[in-house]
Amino acid sequence: MDYFDLIEKRESCRNFDGTPIEKHLITRCLEATRLAPSACNGQPWRFIVVTKPESVAALSRCMQPFNRLAGAMIVILEAKPSLMTSIGNQLKDQDFTQIDIGIAASYLTLAATELGLSSCIVGWFDEKAVRSQFKVPKNQRIRLIISLGYTHAPQPRPKRRKTLQDLILIED
Ligand SMILES: Cc1cc2nc3c(=O)[nH]c(=O)nc-3n(C[C@H](O)[C@H](O)[C@H](O)COP(=O)(O)O)c2cc1C
Repeated sequence: MDYFDLIEKRESCRNFDGTPIEKHLITRCLEATRLAPSACNGQPWRFIVVTKPESVAALSRCMQPFNRLAGAMIVILEAKPSLMTSIGNQLKDQDFTQIDIGIAASYLTLAATELGLSSCIVGWFDEKAVRSQFKVPKNQRIRLIISLGYTHAPQPRPKRRKTLQDLILIED
């Protein structure tokens, strides 16, 4: 799909229909995510790939109810930043690692859209409960969960966004 059509089509899905997702589509999404850029090329993300219906059901209980009918979920863990990224974070007083994870989530959801899947980036979940389900060590943050699936409403909604005028502070 043309890139500009793709970004128009991607939207947060909150009406999954419960259809499971073919494994090769999930792999394709993750292969695209793997190519995302990151500070110092640190690639500070690790994935838990959740496809078994009983695991999706259990995970969805840690999330908002609409996730119950997702076909699969990708839990994005924050990996320890590389030495270079840690130095960069400190020197620039930035959290490049979380920025990187956001970019990875974009890559993942746009790839999903290209493959005909609906998605939702989810930051509102019970981190402690997810940690316990997958035995994630205490010191490892779980940053996002990407719900993937098929939707009842494939027609994209109009986007509600600020105008460029609102967004461009200075045009020098
Ligand atoms: C970091 C992040 C966290 C989000 N967390 C949630 C969430 O927990 N639940 C939810 O329904 N949507 C969540 N969203 C989706 C946003 O609400 C959505 O992207 C925004 O309203 C724009 O709508 P659109 O994605 O349909 O274009 C999240 C999006 C981002 C980028």
